Amino acid sequence: MQQSKKKFVVITGATGRLGYHAVREFVNQGYEVRILSRSVPKAKAIFFDIFDKIELIECDFVIEISRKNLQIFSTVLQKSLKHTLVTHIVSIAGSSGYIDRNKTEILDYKCHKYLIDSAKNIPTLEKFIYISSMAITRPWSIVSLVLNLLIKNVMSWKFETENYLRNSGLNHVIIRPGSLLNERLSKPTAVTIAQGDKDRGMIERSSVAKAIVSVCQDHLMKTKVTFEVFSKKEQRSQKFEWHTPNLEEDGRKINKNSHFKVRMIVVLAFWGMAFGIGGWVFKGKFLKIFKKMKRKFFKN
Ligand SMILES: NC(=O)c1ccc[n+]([C@@H]2O[C@H](COP(=O)([O-])OP(=O)(O)OC[C@H]3O[C@@H](n4cnc5c(N)ncnc54)[C@H](OP(=O)(O)O)[C@@H]3O)[C@@H](O)[C@H]2O)c1
Repeated sequence: MQQSKKKFVVITGATGRLGYHAVREFVNQGYEVRILSRSVPKAKAIFFDIFDKIELIECDFVIEISRKNLQIFSTVLQKSLKHTLVTHIVSIAGSSGYIDRNKTEILDYKCHKYLIDSAKNIPTLEKFIYISSMAITRPWSIVSLVLNLLIKNVMSWKFETENYLRNSGLNHVIIRPGSLLNERLSKPTAVTIAQGDKDRGMIERSSVAKAIVSVCQDHLMKTKVTFEVFSKKEQRSQKFEWHTPNLEEDGRKINKNSHFKVRMIVVLAFWGMAFGIGGWVFKGKFLKIFKKMKRKFFKN
């Protein structure tokens, strides 16, 4: 693996659980690191030991975009990306169980759209890395169904971002991790890289962080690619190692996003069933009420 000469990374979602590992990994590898975070105290607490090695720009995507304060937002973005040597952007920010579920469109799509558009103006940018999710092309899978229902349409919006990025002309790398495991102290384990979104699996956040940094450092690796990353059972006891994956480039055809449709079908089916069961259970009561009203209004 060839070492990059100029290394400057801008990271969103840096103070989240995956961001925690990614920022440390980039700092350890000698990158200049600029993070976008909505909370300075949180960043200070999490990165207390390396805070002097990172540059922080405060920005809450949801507040700025929902206020339609796009002027401020684009100023923040320009400030974040202004550096002649920005070589990598890693976008980790995304909705999880902890976010207001109605803000997914803004956080998982709109802010990335702005970020991608702004990134086009950086001549030194080598790779734009977006953290998506396994099962993103399978709207009928249990993971997608549950996430789309609980965290409103999150997979739908993440998929929109994938497509927007693919269409942007940037040198993108879309990483789709399996279910993330949350052990801060866990060591990164061996991983499997796959394409086609056919697998299921889990992965340590520390392993995903290693994969992200490896992607940035691996000059032999193709860009304009999308891949899944997860650890098989037997790999959980093995150490992380990176080998340049042999990946197929993303085709020109943009994948169709059927998440919205599937979610609507599921919601309609749910309410249909609820009314059906309710009607059947309370049939006797409804009939009584109906007869009572009939008697009252048509007694003459
Ligand atoms: N959890 C999984 O199993 C799983 C699986 C596959 C892919 N993913 C994706 O992997 C990424 C990281 O996941 P995670 O579980 O580590 O997530 P996480 O801990 O919830 O981190 C999410 C990050 O997004 C940031 N964020 C939330 N709202 C924001 C806003 N309004 N403005 C700016 N930043 C905001 C959070 O900021 P704060 O630090 O200020 O809270 C946090 O840094 C996400 O994109 C997720 O969709 C997750």
